[in-house]
Amino acid sequence: MKLVTVVGARPQFIKAAAVSRAITRHNAAFPLAPARIDEIIIHTGQHYDKNMSEIFFKEMGLPEPNYFLDIHGGRHGAMTGRMLEKIESVLISEKPDMVLVYGDTNSTLAGALAATKLHIPIAHVEAGLRSFNRNMPEEINRTLTDSISSILFCPTATAASNLEKEGIRNNDWDGQRKIHIVGDVMYDTTLIFKAFAQKPKFAVPHEYILVTLHRAENTDDKARLTSLISALGNIGKKVPVVFPVHPRTQASIDKAGIELDPSIIKVDPVSYLEMLYLIDNSLLIMTDSGGLQKEAYYCHKPCITLRDETEWVELVEDGVNVVAGTDQDLIMQNIQSFLAKPPNFTANIYGTGNTAKHIVNHISEYAC
Ligand code: UD1
Repeated sequence: MKLVTVVGARPQFIKAAAVSRAITRHNAAFPLAPARIDEIIIHTGQHYDKNMSEIFFKEMGLPEPNYFLDIHGGRHGAMTGRMLEKIESVLISEKPDMVLVYGDTNSTLAGALAATKLHIPIAHVEAGLRSFNRNMPEEINRTLTDSISSILFCPTATAASNLEKEGIRNNDWDGQRKIHIVGDVMYDTTLIFKAFAQKPKFAVPHEYILVTLHRAENTDDKARLTSLISALGNIGKKVPVVFPVHPRTQASIDKAGIELDPSIIKVDPVSYLEMLYLIDNSLLIMTDSGGLQKEAYYCHKPCITLRDETEWVELVEDGVNVVAGTDQDLIMQNIQSFLAKPPNFTANIYGTGNTAKHIVNHISEYAC
């Protein structure tokens, strides 16, 4: 079968790396049609800086994209629309049997929309995740993508039950629609690459808290951003804070004229292998990223989520993640309690690290 994979943003390169490896392994075992999967990769260009894109392809052995669309920036509608037009042209010429999309970015939605309008089945990795916050562009992207996907790869039973509540059920569409609970593909990538973690070139302190921020709800709201940066300054005076800054966040800090406390160790975005090193050697993580909440868990680090809700509710239920929003007191209290008494990491919430293999098997079976 011919499979077109659409990626565009940093977390998608990370997830696709595990699945592409599994496809290569699958083809070694099943070199002939109909089980063989020929993957064509479209990179929309949503993330384009060397350290937001190219480095991930190099480090993680992700095959070079067959198409690079060079679409980034601008308003969400315009970005998604431009992607839709170009992806549609590629799909018309490639005529794939299926389109594979990841997560909840504008690239995800554009890939899914282009496919459905050409009646090409869509496989969605990370189906069923919900924040129930309709103001997030990601919530819109993932809800719409799920509603038109043929194969929905859910990381957990909670995600599958979210789909059911929206009327999306296994074997809908006269049996053509399939829902599979497969675990989290980012667990695979953490397991594969942790042994290759790389110490970044800047002077990493012996003990530190690792912070990332990039969500629009934080970066585009001056009051929230100011509150978070001020919290980082207060924390940085007590425990070193390492803060790799996403381009969106840097632009918002500059625009709002916010000064960072000099105690904050602010660096450019780091590579995946460097990030794994930083996570694994940190005291704890503070983030508004979805992926980093899980990577913290896989490296047995407590996490404070700088949002008002999380899609990864199992981590909160397990006591290893606290949703603190931008409340400085709550953030401080949780740092203190996590450092005084680190939580236990006993449960195995997101599968066994074989998610990519399950995804590839289901895709191959669907085509056969
Ligand atoms: C996007 C995703 C988000 C995901 C995140 C991962 C959407 C709606 N959001 O958010 O779900 O968690 O990626 O990082 O798709 N920029 C650069 N260089 C780059 C990339 C971006 O300068 O390599 C700039 C863009 O031009 C833009 C800003 O950063 O001005 C934001 O980028 P954008 O792609 O809109 O969204 P993200 O915030 O990265």
